[in-house]
Amino acid sequence: MDKYAVIGNPVAHSKSPLIHAAFAQQTNQALEYGRVLAPLDGFASTVRELIDQGYQGVNVTVPFKFDAYECADQLSERALKAGAVNTLSFSAQGIVGDNTDGAGLVRDILHNLNLPLQGKRVLLLGAGGASEGVLGPILQTQPTCVHIANRTLDKAVAMVSRAKPNAQANNTVELEACSFADLAGKQYDIVINATSSGLSNEALPLPPDLFADHALAYDMMYGRETPFMHYARQESASLIADGLGMLVEQAAEAFFIWRGVRPETAPVMQAMRAA
Ligand code: ATR
Repeated sequence: MDKYAVIGNPVAHSKSPLIHAAFAQQTNQALEYGRVLAPLDGFASTVRELIDQGYQGVNVTVPFKFDAYECADQLSERALKAGAVNTLSFSAQGIVGDNTDGAGLVRDILHNLNLPLQGKRVLLLGAGGASEGVLGPILQTQPTCVHIANRTLDKAVAMVSRAKPNAQANNTVELEACSFADLAGKQYDIVINATSSGLSNEALPLPPDLFADHALAYDMMYGRETPFMHYARQESASLIADGLGMLVEQAAEAFFIWRGVRPETAPVMQAMRAA
């Protein structure tokens, strides 16, 4: 049977095995999908062991997405733009790295939440790996603007300068970096929390009236209400979403890369919400 896994540290909490088992069952694909805990300084050696054991690919989670980028022999365009890899495929030609996070986020917003991104004002909170991973696919949807707000302004500025050529290729997108203080008086249609502040249950210093009419507040975290989601509720954002849809969609995209079959995501999302 073909073997796959998610590699992380920690990894025990990962829902990827559940999701891929559901996809495999639904599409009649014979495969095994497990969890692999790699030592913090041993990502590349763990990957080599898995290849020797006949694995066909892995998903990569925190904190190894950059290690995965480094260990790939070939990178997809979106992995190159993201500077990070969350999906590795092992073949006779070597290790191929891709990044399905941004595609998963965009697909969740467009197809599951049924909201267009084209022509919308988008605010991306955070300028770390999670934010950088989704920026390219967001720019491709041709929003009016993407503003990146970060506690450490320099990191947002650097992220914008790396992405500028990409933004220019997508003609009129206004791409700017700012601090949280700069957000006073601004309004957005879509606000995406890509900071890790929810992990430590910390609130972001966001001003009132940030959400335009019919705005979406999207937290890339899932599993519980974060301070950002609480803020969005208080501010009466029209739609509040967590990152479960993104998680399932990025997994579906990885499944498609490996198996050439695109699974239905809606039943898997419903089952996970019910659980
Ligand atoms: P990840 O891979 O989850 O993106 P990361 O690369 O360490 O992790 O980035 C974490 C992001 O969350 C950063 O943008 C960080 O802001 P700084 O660049 O200023 O460190 C942001 N972040 C984390 N905790 C935060 C908090 N309490 N308030 C504001 N921003 C926070």
